Amino acid sequence: MRFIFVLLQMLSVYNLAAQQPGFPVHTGDILNDTDGKPVNAHGAGILKYNGTYYLFGEIKKGTTWLVPGQAWEDYRVPAGGVSCYSSKDLINWKNEGVALASLTGDASNDLDTSKIIERPKVVYNKQTNKFVMWMHVDANDYSYSQAGVAVSDQPEGPYKYLGSVKPNGQMARDMTVYKDEDDKAYLVYASEFNKTMHVCLLSDDYTSPTATYSCITSAINREAPAVFKFQNKYYLITSDCTGWSPNPATYAVADSLLGQWKQMGNPCKGAGAESTFLSQSTFVLPTANKAVFIFMADRWNKTDLPNSRYVWLPLEMVNGQPEIRMPQTKKDQSSNARQSKIYFTSKEKNRVAAGSNYRYHFTAADSAGKNFSYAVKNLPSWLQYDSVKHLLTGKTVKAGQYPVHLVAFNAGIYIVKVYSTDFKMTYTFKIVKL
Ligand code: DGJ
Repeated sequence: MRFIFVLLQMLSVYNLAAQQPGFPVHTGDILNDTDGKPVNAHGAGILKYNGTYYLFGEIKKGTTWLVPGQAWEDYRVPAGGVSCYSSKDLINWKNEGVALASLTGDASNDLDTSKIIERPKVVYNKQTNKFVMWMHVDANDYSYSQAGVAVSDQPEGPYKYLGSVKPNGQMARDMTVYKDEDDKAYLVYASEFNKTMHVCLLSDDYTSPTATYSCITSAINREAPAVFKFQNKYYLITSDCTGWSPNPATYAVADSLLGQWKQMGNPCKGAGAESTFLSQSTFVLPTANKAVFIFMADRWNKTDLPNSRYVWLPLEMVNGQPEIRMPQTKKDQSSNARQSKIYFTSKEKNRVAAGSNYRYHFTAADSAGKNFSYAVKNLPSWLQYDSVKHLLTGKTVKAGQYPVHLVAFNAGIYIVKVYSTDFKMTYTFKIVKL
């Protein structure tokens, strides 16, 4: 009996006309804005407000230098402030300018270029109608360890800096902000020299920490927190502490943000998982498909920090466990793997729009060059196969070209499992406009 074969292929499917969100996938590439310039937003987070996505991140520019006298590789650039980009579809990002500016010549100011401004995250407060930005502000040697906060009347800024604090007297370094469904917001930050991660409930206006906080991890060095919620459980992805160099991520899970958190394993799977695909977590964005998220991370270039890149990958919940994979881009596979998936994403240039006719190309042959049988499961609803019934389960398909009609493109990532009775075959799978 021959075995099930696996097929992995990324497709680009998003609808520009209706400006529905696509599924952005970045595998360590430069992300260009709508002016064709590289997006400069590192340690970033995304706020969705009124149907628009706002991306906030560290502006890294200038020459990278090594802070002398440190026991670790303390590479840095002058604090460049916080950038903002907007997008309707998560694919095309418009530069909205500097959301929070740094300044020069006042070394006592948190926002001076001689300082560190990292990992900005923005949440919207319904009660005050303000946008609230939290960020890690620090000195060159990371001894200051404070949480800075700024507010604005509009998402893109400019933000007014209110100052910084050590929440409940505790150090605050790498951080994120999580706003829950009940509109309570929490600051999640590496504390106690990165030995612990703390969660602190923010005040009702989100601009100050409250006395309600908990130390959710202990005795393991953790940085780069990214929180998401799935089926009433909270998930926290963090990295180890190895400066700008990549390391394996881990995740923790809890029924409540303030704990108890249970440490789990590495959410990254497959080749590259041991280095988080050469990146470090920064944010997890929900999608319309509740079981699929966008895992956002930084591929730091430590000796040339402005040249750091973006890794945005699908995070899929499988039996309550997050799985992050680097999609395979190979057109040809020769493998005895048992099962795999096709990810319909926005990665490929061959982008398609809903309501049009496209030709579905499927070419495949086994190692002897013969056609084979296969089954398709879990088809996305926007793909109608009426005209290609011969592609349905159990039928033998000949390599060739088959028309399909894309009905609508819904946000999220779609997973199609293709099984073959043969293994060791080559294939191509793509959709092109007729
Ligand atoms: C890792 C952190 O996650 C980054 O935000 C930054 O602080 C670097 N360390 C500095 O080495």
